[in-house]
Amino acid sequence: MAKTKKKPVVIVTRKLPDPIETRMMELFDTRLNLDDRPMSQADLVKAVKQADALVPTVTDRIDASLLSQAGDNLGLIASFGTGVDHIDLATARARNIVVTNTPGVLTEDTADMTMALILAVPRRLTEGSRLIHSGEWDGWSPTSMLGHRIWGKRLGIVGMGRIGQAVARRARGFGLSVHYHNRRRVHPDIEAELEATYWDSLDQMLAHMDIVSVNCPHTPATFHLLSARRLKLMQPHAYIVNTSRGEVIDENALTRVLEGGGIAGAGLDVYEHEPAVNPKLVKLDNVVLLPHMGSSTIEGRVDMGEKVIINIKTFADGHNPPDRVIETMF
Ligand code: 8YV
Repeated sequence: MAKTKKKPVVIVTRKLPDPIETRMMELFDTRLNLDDRPMSQADLVKAVKQADALVPTVTDRIDASLLSQAGDNLGLIASFGTGVDHIDLATARARNIVVTNTPGVLTEDTADMTMALILAVPRRLTEGSRLIHSGEWDGWSPTSMLGHRIWGKRLGIVGMGRIGQAVARRARGFGLSVHYHNRRRVHPDIEAELEATYWDSLDQMLAHMDIVSVNCPHTPATFHLLSARRLKLMQPHAYIVNTSRGEVIDENALTRVLEGGGIAGAGLDVYEHEPAVNPKLVKLDNVVLLPHMGSSTIEGRVDMGEKVIINIKTFADGHNPPDRVIETMF
């Protein structure tokens, strides 16, 4: 009888959609986290000592200290998500641990949520909804709930990768003119398709925009990219939207700028110290705050899970997994 190959031990740190967990159980020696309680660092240490492949999410800190305690078998970190700022990539590389992510499959959902915030803040959607829920709405009036028009305004996208471009496509449909700042200018064909204006200077772009959308990854180079100084460059009528990572904006500085009327409002899906949110920010009326749900669709989560499975399977079969993360990508 042919000798059957031992299935890799795969430890999943959070509850994933049922079809993904079922398939993982079929393919691998999988240990699930059915009650979905985030793992403590001690739990994670146990996991990296046992696993051939670890499947973490944004809520797990995969730092140098954890990786230095990994067993010799740990060959793959197949992260469930696109952002990899929770993983110490340099230490993983030094220890010969391959890291993969799930790019592409949450682009459209995240761009939809970005567009939703771009509409929700200037048009005061959550304020209007709160008014109805409070039972205090006393009827239509020509001057009640006035917001600001989107059509014809300037949108400045910080980070013109997949998600930034998907936001730009939607924004054009709403009559916004598209401007962007990126490490590198995008291909002229993409600029032409999006009728996008490139700003080499982020400072200059911020000073001229009506709405700013943050769509770049969080890296050492983008930490507090929107610093107190840069936020002050924005115009008092401008809005800022962030569906990327909280760390890209100095959250305390943003709160102060919003409190002082330095900008008109903000739509945030991500925070610097999740799940904590600056309590002063929560008190403001001119903000729409969402609980990191930019990519939260069942379709997206299943697609992400399928990518994780393909990455593990390819790696276990001795090949280069398709979504391998290389440090220089960021
Ligand atoms: C995911 C995200 O839900 O993929 C990302 O980078 O920010 C989210 O949309 C989360 O990261 C899953 O780990």
